[in-house]
Amino acid sequence: MPLNRAPDGALLGKDVASGRADGMPLLRAGTLLTPRFKDALVRAGVHAVYVDDEETRGIDPQPVLSDETRSAATAAVSRAFDGAKDSLKTGRPLSAEAVEELQGIAARMAEEIGQTDDFALALADLSAADGYTLQHSVDVAALGLLIGQRLYNTRGYIDYRGRRTYERIDARMTRLGLGLLLHDVGKLAVPSEILNKPGKLDPAEWEVMKTHPLAGVELLRSDLVSPLVKVVVRSHHERWQGGGYPDGKVEEEIHELARIAAVADVYDAVTSERVYAAARPAHVGVRIIREGRGDAFDAEIVDVFSQLVAPFPPGDSIELTDGRSGVVARVPEDNLDRPVVRISGPGQLYELPLADHPEVGIVGWEDMDLSLQAA
Ligand SMILES: [Fe+2]
Repeated sequence: MPLNRAPDGALLGKDVASGRADGMPLLRAGTLLTPRFKDALVRAGVHAVYVDDEETRGIDPQPVLSDETRSAATAAVSRAFDGAKDSLKTGRPLSAEAVEELQGIAARMAEEIGQTDDFALALADLSAADGYTLQHSVDVAALGLLIGQRLYNTRGYIDYRGRRTYERIDARMTRLGLGLLLHDVGKLAVPSEILNKPGKLDPAEWEVMKTHPLAGVELLRSDLVSPLVKVVVRSHHERWQGGGYPDGKVEEEIHELARIAAVADVYDAVTSERVYAAARPAHVGVRIIREGRGDAFDAEIVDVFSQLVAPFPPGDSIELTDGRSGVVARVPEDNLDRPVVRISGPGQLYELPLADHPEVGIVGWEDMDLSLQAA
């Protein structure tokens, strides 16, 4: 729930991640939210928390990655980015050791994601603004791998000879994961005044910002890095109907792995806290991706995304159009837009499956005004 609605003395339901490389949370699950803690969270850029109370007991938002893998990934990305800073000074590509370490992490993430068959997972970890690029890289990798897994397990992929295959999906997933972990590494070459500017970029600043995909490829120019990894870094800002950068490619000219990266990147950017924009809830991110179907994004990939990412994941607090409000308990696999909502009132606690109640809407969903929510 939004932090400003969390009552004083509420029990934190999940750790509040700090986004720091060492993986230490800002606050642990089970902490009582005093006004002092709430102030500290606001200052750290946290605007929503999981609360454990009567209404939410037993609802357990499933993270896509285990805490261990998330911390290991954040630490490895942090080390690789430090290495990349040195590379920028010396003009050498990113070291083989850094690439190998990240590749190991990408393989571990792909394996872990391969073992969950869950959907409607808690993607956003509500983490703080600190270390945005690090946390963003890990979250984008997790979401992109989730999409890639569903896509390739369902219909395989077209190999370099133009043949459809189900072989070596693991290797392809690892490359996708590595590309996603490194997709924004070129941002290290962008001056921090531009990167961290709170307002809109002017045209000259925007031109500098747009150099980051190629700067990233430059850092990865070693032959040890697969071309599939490089294409994710290079082309994650290309758009299906054109208008993206750096090459202005369209449709199938854009490598499929980069098309996956585009969806994962935009969804995570919208739903994460950034210096120039507050984090938007999951349903706004979902709507923006769906609105871009066949326009900004490849329709097939948006369809896979829509089967995996629920607009209102378990644990979300929502209001219904009939005046009731509650917490999402579960999301049916075949109807991600119609969750089961746990409603509590004086002396009552019950579950309302929205799939059986088409007359009840969710406030801010059917009537969402996208013009106010621009990414
Ligand atoms: Fe980027």
